[in-house]
Amino acid sequence: MEKRMLIFSCVVSFISFISTNSEIDTSRPELSCSGRVHYNVTLAAYYPVFDSDNESDYLDARMKKLRTLQNYLDERAEFVTVSMDLDSGIPYGTKLCIPELNAKFLRNIPLQARDKSHYNNVKTNSPDFSHVDICVRTEEDTYDNSVNRVVTLYV
Ligand SMILES: *[C@@H]1O[C@H](CO)[C@@H](O)[C@H](O)[C@H]1NC(C)=O
Ligand SMILES: *[C@@H]1O[C@H](CO)[C@@H](O)[C@H](O)[C@H]1NC(C)=O
Repeated sequence: MEKRMLIFSCVVSFISFISTNSEIDTSRPELSCSGRVHYNVTLAAYYPVFDSDNESDYLDARMKKLRTLQNYLDERAEFVTVSMDLDSGIPYGTKLCIPELNAKFLRNIPLQARDKSHYNNVKTNSPDFSHVDICVRTEEDTYDNSVNRVVTLYV
């Protein structure tokens, strides 16, 4: 009886091992990214505040609506707005790809740098790719670990 239980638990852990591995499979070509790679990029999340008096809380650097990750996943947006240091020389609308996000959501998440942040701790005269802030729908969505982590960024 005990032996049986042991075999059963081995089978269960083997199955969960296989499914865990397939979840983090980044070898699926449609989930990979191309372009210039930046490692150890800090990803964080923010959300639009629609009832704010300050338009910059819900509009991007060119007064366009912020497109959230959840709107994209619901097929209500064509891309996802991210906020970066545009003043450092990153052009508005720059397209970006993060394989860790693609792997998590099992689809290609098209990111566009359209909102403006600035990091005082970053001293650089060249485009600053060290931080990406992704726009999500609600405050609760900002707490998700998958949008608060170190990632690889392709530009
Ligand atoms: C990224 O960070 C890890 C851990 O701090 C470090 O070992 C690695 O060298 C870094 N990679 C690059 C390309 O900076
Ligand atoms: C709106 O918020 C931005 C970013 O926090 C700030 O720089 C700007 O001064 C604010 N505008 C007004 C009118 O308060």
